[in-house]
Amino acid sequence: MDFERLHPDRGRVSARDAAAALRESAAPPDDRPYLALNMVATADGRVTIEGRSGGIGNEADRELFHELRAQVDAVMAGAGTVRTERYGRLVRDPKRRARRGEAGLEPDPLAVIVSARLALTPDIPLLQDPDSRVVILTASDDELEGCRARVEYLRPDEAPAAPAELRERAARLVLAPMLRKLRHDHGVRTVLCEGGPVLNGGLLREGLVDELFLSVAPKLAGDSGPTVVSGPPLDGAAEMELLTVMEAGGQLFLRYRLPH
Ligand SMILES: NC(=O)c1ccc[n+]([C@@H]2O[C@H](COP(=O)([O-])OP(=O)(O)OC[C@H]3O[C@@H](n4cnc5c(N)ncnc54)[C@H](OP(=O)(O)O)[C@@H]3O)[C@@H](O)[C@H]2O)c1
Repeated sequence: MDFERLHPDRGRVSARDAAAALRESAAPPDDRPYLALNMVATADGRVTIEGRSGGIGNEADRELFHELRAQVDAVMAGAGTVRTERYGRLVRDPKRRARRGEAGLEPDPLAVIVSARLALTPDIPLLQDPDSRVVILTASDDELEGCRARVEYLRPDEAPAAPAELRERAARLVLAPMLRKLRHDHGVRTVLCEGGPVLNGGLLREGLVDELFLSVAPKLAGDSGPTVVSGPPLDGAAEMELLTVMEAGGQLFLRYRLPH
């Protein structure tokens, strides 16, 4: 399925070429991976319909979603998203895995889950997939039992916290040092973060986001569900530069760069 590019110039573009632009332009800083957010929203700005994101996007959106996964070293998501959307193997299509191999990437991207409390159950399909490699960023000292995926844990290097601080620390991890470890210890140069809103807010507040892919579906959720970013306010509105606008099946596909 092709997209109609409307900005910066007009033309037809495939999902594969549109997604390849991410890897072509990704320039990782020294101390962390290059990080792009990918989200889909309704025209009234909601990222869920009846609690899930699946009903928002069209077929073109799903194709671009999978092609973007095929471009990166790691795909990151918050525990809320992994729990709700029941994540499975990240790149299911063997042809896409073969293309990743030809491009010098691992056939499957590393899955990175952020869960302060480690409130995950091993029956999540991703954690039951023996071909998947998963790194869980967590403040918990526990480990999940019964996973068939290769699971590692990345914990903050902090002095033991006082009990009051422990609750606060469990609610929010400082992500920058953990991304630095992903870059230096796991060789991750590019990350696609698929949300959700709480994780997006944490990454944006720490200045760790380089790009936003946002697709806007011609739908109104008509409720007060979450938007792209939630949690404490950012330190002022984030100004972004519009890189590309595409359209397919009435859905808009916007790509923005965040300044640093
Ligand atoms: N439309 C879209 O593109 C899209 C994309 C993604 C998600 N969604 C929707 O968004 C909803 C989930 O929203 P959400 O905001 O709860 O999702 P989320 O950001 O994926 O998950 C929040 C959870 O992730 C962990 N977490 C995130 N940031 C953290 C940080 N800095 N430090 C420590 N832990 C952190 C915590 O896990 P623990 O509680 O385990 O400690 C937190 O409770 C779902 O309904 C999903 O369908 C929509």
